[in-house]
Amino acid sequence: MPPQNRKTDRPGPSRRQFLSSGLLAGGAAVATGFGATRSAAAAGDPAITEIQDWNRYLGEGVVSRPYGVPSQFESQVIRRDVEWLTASRESSVSFTPLHELDGIITPNGLCFERHHAGIAEIDPSKHRLMINGLVDTPLVFTMQDLMRFPRENHVYFLECAANSGMEWRGAQLNGCQYTHGMVHCVVYTGVRLKHLLDEAGVKPSAKWLLPEGADASAMTRSIPMEKALDDCLVAFKMNGEALRPEQGYPVRLVVPGWEGNMWIKWLRRIEVGDQPWQQREETSKYTDLLANGTARRFTWVMDVKSVITSPSPQAPINHGRGKAVISGLAWSGNGRIKRVDVSLDGGRNWTTARLDGVSLPKALHRFYLDFDWDGSPLLLQSRAIDEAGFVQPTKDALRAARGSNSIYHNNGIQTWHVKADGTVENVEVS
Ligand code: MTE
Ligand code: CO
Repeated sequence: MPPQNRKTDRPGPSRRQFLSSGLLAGGAAVATGFGATRSAAAAGDPAITEIQDWNRYLGEGVVSRPYGVPSQFESQVIRRDVEWLTASRESSVSFTPLHELDGIITPNGLCFERHHAGIAEIDPSKHRLMINGLVDTPLVFTMQDLMRFPRENHVYFLECAANSGMEWRGAQLNGCQYTHGMVHCVVYTGVRLKHLLDEAGVKPSAKWLLPEGADASAMTRSIPMEKALDDCLVAFKMNGEALRPEQGYPVRLVVPGWEGNMWIKWLRRIEVGDQPWQQREETSKYTDLLANGTARRFTWVMDVKSVITSPSPQAPINHGRGKAVISGLAWSGNGRIKRVDVSLDGGRNWTTARLDGVSLPKALHRFYLDFDWDGSPLLLQSRAIDEAGFVQPTKDALRAARGSNSIYHNNGIQTWHVKADGTVENVEVS
């Protein structure tokens, strides 16, 4: 489904409008079944009475698909871009189809992409990683050299600082793929950056790193030494296999919990220095402009955030009233998620959701709220709280603190308006 092209600053309907129209009156009350087809009703169901092709004919043999791909019936599960946002396909962004996914791991082929100069197609045998600057011994590593350092595996989310940026001034894009899809979460295999820096011998005056990409944008970002020595990885695998070209093959920097812009892809050089570098034009945009024209600097950590992925505009309720599952994602650059609350009525009442599966620091967390839908309209919201005690703010609170000039670091609470027919729309309440 294409996004609705609502480029105006028109905010969604207000909570007052919902109150006056009586939309908030209902909610979830009726107890009904799980929707299993009763045997009487199923009597004439051809899915039972007819023998299907797949039950009759031999299927394709092993290795008919040497690299497996999803079922043909899952062809809608794809990355998408927003046409009016994609001025050039090389310097642009695609979005993860969050509404189609479950659990916490993003499949490699569905990770959103953000490139400033297109995808670099690198021959790993010709790729080198150099460490120079304030080090005792400048070093150049081949991919083979990197493989000889001790390896680690970690699950981390990567979120672009511009995720939800188009929503700063009001509800705009109809689907969590577009409002929140600049995030992915995979298992990385790599070497601690600390080991490589130790090998080169960092001088006492060294305080900053300038990693650089091998793509045509030669993307760079200044990273403080404490972070580099703490938990940064130089990663060559994602979800067990080589990084995809889109994600920086053969090697990328992993900067856990910090804005995606710093996770340099196609990593070819790390310069060590004693102060941050002047950012280039393209990357200097990653600064948050406040209402008075001044800027917030060094906003590296991605704040606590969550979104309901289903139901959502691209994933309406299509089974009618009764038992239903609300499913969503929460994450924080500060560590683990402690709790997620869900509201069915635009933030008046909250219920604690069920966090399910592993809870890993700086990774996505999956939450569910199982409920009975009585068929009345809902204003769905989720609010995450992280282990550092940060609570996800409302969009109003965020704008009161930061104005509406910003694009970056929008972690405000998202509202989905579920209508009586089960369709869902992006709205705002205040
Ligand atoms: N690294 C290089 N070399 N070139 C780039 O254009 N884009 C950055 C970062 N690293 C970029 C880069 C931005 S803004 C983001 S959000 C992440 O990569 C996106 O990573 P992904 O494409 O794996 O989702
Ligand atoms: Co980015």
